Amino acid sequence: MQVWAVANQKGGVGKTTTVVSLAGLLAEVGYRVLIVDLDPHGSLTSYFRFDPDEIEHSVYDLFEQSEVTASKFRSLILETSHESISLVPASTALATLERKAVGKEGLGLQVAKSLRFVREDYDYVLIDSPPVLGVLMVNALAACDHLLVPVQTEFLALKGLERMVRTIEMVNRARKNKLTYTIIPTFYDRRTQASVSSLRELHKLYADQVSNAVIPVDTKFRNASIKGLVPSSLDAGSRGVHAYARLLRGLLERRKQVQVDG
Ligand SMILES: Nc1ncnc2c1ncn2[C@@H]1O[C@H](COP(=O)(O)OP(=O)(O)OP(=O)(O)O)[C@@H](O)[C@H]1O
Ligand SMILES: [Mg+2]
Repeated sequence: MQVWAVANQKGGVGKTTTVVSLAGLLAEVGYRVLIVDLDPHGSLTSYFRFDPDEIEHSVYDLFEQSEVTASKFRSLILETSHESISLVPASTALATLERKAVGKEGLGLQVAKSLRFVREDYDYVLIDSPPVLGVLMVNALAACDHLLVPVQTEFLALKGLERMVRTIEMVNRARKNKLTYTIIPTFYDRRTQASVSSLRELHKLYADQVSNAVIPVDTKFRNASIKGLVPSSLDAGSRGVHAYARLLRGLLERRKQVQVDG
C-alpha cells in the first residue's frame, strides 16, 4: 500500500481535484483506492454525494480516543459510486478539532496508525487535507509516503508554496525517513503572462521537485464535480485528464525508481 497526501496551505489550488482525478485514474488501471477526507469543509465527501453536515461517523471519530481499533476504522469506510474507490468521509464536526486537540499529545499519528489496519486492502490511499496548518494537516503529512503539492500558476502562489515548504522542512526534522514531495503546477493558462512566468519561477526555485505534468485550466473538472464523477469517467479525452494521467505516470515511475534505489 502506498499513501499519497495532497496538501498546500493555500486554498483553491486544486487539491481535491487532484485527489479525485488521480483516484479515478488509479482505479481505472485496476488498483484498489481509498480516499481520506481530512478537510472540515468535506469537499471530497460532498463530491461523492455524501453530506458532511449529516454524516454521523467520520474521520473525526479517529480523534476521540487515542487508541483506534481496526474495526472502528473499517466501520468508517464508505463505498462510493465508483466501484474501486472507497472513502473515509469528513464531517463538519472536524472543524472543532483544532481547538480540542490543543495540548493533547500524540494526536498527530491517528491517521497513520489507522491506515496500518487496511494495508492489505488497498493499493493506494490518497489523503485530501485542509488549507491550514493544524492537527489535520500534520496527520496527513505524517501518514504519507509521498506528498503532492498543487500550486496555482499565478502571482502570489509562490508565497504560499514557500510556507508549505517550510512546513515540510519542519516535519522532516521529526521524521526518520524524509518526506519527499512533488509540486504540481495547476490552473495553467499559457496565454497569460502570470501562468507562464510563475511556471518558469517554479522550475527555477524548485527544479527537480516540479512535476513535468502541468495541469491546464479545464472547465471539465467543474462539470465532473457537478455530476459526481471522477474526471476520467466524464471525459477521458479532456486536456485536464491527459495532464493528470501524465502526472500519474511520473509518480509511478518515481516510485519504481525509489524501490530500485532503496
Ligand atoms: N485545472 C482546473 N481547471 C479549472 N477548474 C479547476 C481546475 N482544478 C480545479 N478546478 C475547480 O476549481 C475549484 C477549486 O478546486 P479544488 O476544490 O480542487 O481546490 P482545493 O485546493 O481543494 O480547494 P480548498 O482549499 O477550498 O479545499 C473547483 O470548483 C474545481 O472544480
Ligand atoms: Mg479541497
